Amino acid sequence: MSEGGQVDMKNDRDWWKGAVVYQIYPRSFCDTDGDGVGDLAGITSRVDHLVDLGVDAVWLSPVFVSPMADFGYDVSDYRNIDPTFGTLDDFDTLVATLHAAGIRLLLDWVPNHTSAQHPWFQQSRTSRSNDRRDWYIWRDGGGPDVRPNNWSSAFGGPAWSWDDATEQWYLHLFLAEQPDLNWANPDVRHAMCDVLRFWMDRGVDGFRADVVHCIGKDPGLSNCSRIYEGKSLIDHWYQPEAFPYIEEIRATLDERDGVVVGEVILHSAEQLAEYTSTRRLHMVFNFLLLFAPWDAKAWHRVLAASLHAFARADACSTWAFSNHDQERIMSRYGASDARARVAATVLLMLEGTVFLYAGDEFGLQDADVPDERIVDVDGRDGCRAPIPWDTTPTHGWATSDPWLPWPPNPDEINAEVVSGDAQSIYWAYRSLVALRKESTAIKHGVTRLHPLNGDVMMFEREVDDERIYVVANFGKAAADVALPGEAECIFDSAFPTGGFDESGSDTVVEAETARVYQAIPLGDGTG
Ligand code: NOJ
Repeated sequence: MSEGGQVDMKNDRDWWKGAVVYQIYPRSFCDTDGDGVGDLAGITSRVDHLVDLGVDAVWLSPVFVSPMADFGYDVSDYRNIDPTFGTLDDFDTLVATLHAAGIRLLLDWVPNHTSAQHPWFQQSRTSRSNDRRDWYIWRDGGGPDVRPNNWSSAFGGPAWSWDDATEQWYLHLFLAEQPDLNWANPDVRHAMCDVLRFWMDRGVDGFRADVVHCIGKDPGLSNCSRIYEGKSLIDHWYQPEAFPYIEEIRATLDERDGVVVGEVILHSAEQLAEYTSTRRLHMVFNFLLLFAPWDAKAWHRVLAASLHAFARADACSTWAFSNHDQERIMSRYGASDARARVAATVLLMLEGTVFLYAGDEFGLQDADVPDERIVDVDGRDGCRAPIPWDTTPTHGWATSDPWLPWPPNPDEINAEVVSGDAQSIYWAYRSLVALRKESTAIKHGVTRLHPLNGDVMMFEREVDDERIYVVANFGKAAADVALPGEAECIFDSAFPTGGFDESGSDTVVEAETARVYQAIPLGDGTG
């Protein structure tokens, strides 16, 4: 790691504001040892790609020791690397390589639950009087046939499992192999915050905190309302009990200038914004556009509500349009390359921090996974398909037989082919990330959302005398658009590397296309 580079990076505590973070699902990024599962060495070998794309940081989905019941979100040792992914030495090499390239690293920290194989749970379940009994949530219920309450697990079925040995139920909001930790116990909080210190001392710049809203539990563990019965509760889990714990997490991060983005799956922008502040999380994911249908009205409504809620909280939103739990952007919008480009344009022009999911920049779709190859408990295999890097039979992996099938058409839609075409979606992503880096208005400016105009959504980003107009046409017909003033087109989603040199204040935006304009200051005379 270059000493100088590292020191410079440490000095910028606000680096995450307006940054572009790239999510890597390690199993699917690149395999170097031939076991068909991606590994840390594979990520290190592809850091050049991250540099070319221009991202500021990487978020790595979990790489800790795990029985893989939920592919790493069931951690049995928070302080070591699972052998599938490599070793701590491989990890140090990755950190050093990223930092030397000026890219920061966020790890995925899973605070709500451990693996049932974690020594803490193994001890906890030995007896009711074990010192670690209270590290998890055990209840009598009404005996082996009557659960303590009506909560359901996010993956279906009850959120309680009966333990024969000690004759009590334990809580798991996810799989039975993922028992929930009891954050009301201060020893749990200390142990989990120590995990953060361990990785920050190893050079990590921050964390993505998995379902962090769930660490707060209603102390009475009351039944959920009838309308949620049988449904996953985690996207209705607004429990202010989490806030003091989150404040403890933040204080731990502040000791070493670490940064945290929380996964909070609530559907209200007002509630989401409450999780961020200078004492709580630095950032919180806002999935509301991800959940919105392809419809200008819906996007406009979400954007208006989010801007309002986050401005009131004096915070910025954090946007993600896909991840390892959701259909890829391309698949979600009916395999439409045009729509995926519009989405990328809006995403990368938004105020706040932007998260990209590895592979979206190549226009990958979800894989079609036949029944006999399904491995995930919750139907998420498609978006986790391996990334094809080139046109060889192994597509840049050490085997042609990865853990999941390739995404559709890997001979044509792979990193090598797509990045070789100057008007491809890859170049749209690359140009947009570059614009975000060059323009203070895009990175840090305030947002002014214009009233909706049919299928056209327009917003401005502004700082000092720099102004950017973003126009997205969701419709099936070209639209005449009056810009707020004279402006020069600096990006067109259909022609990401050229062919849009135009200036003026009236423009035509083609169907399912987005454009970015830079305002020409009054008196400039070039318009
Ligand atoms: C959210 C993660 O994104 C998902 O992949 C995981 O299954 C659950 N949390 C449980 O940890």
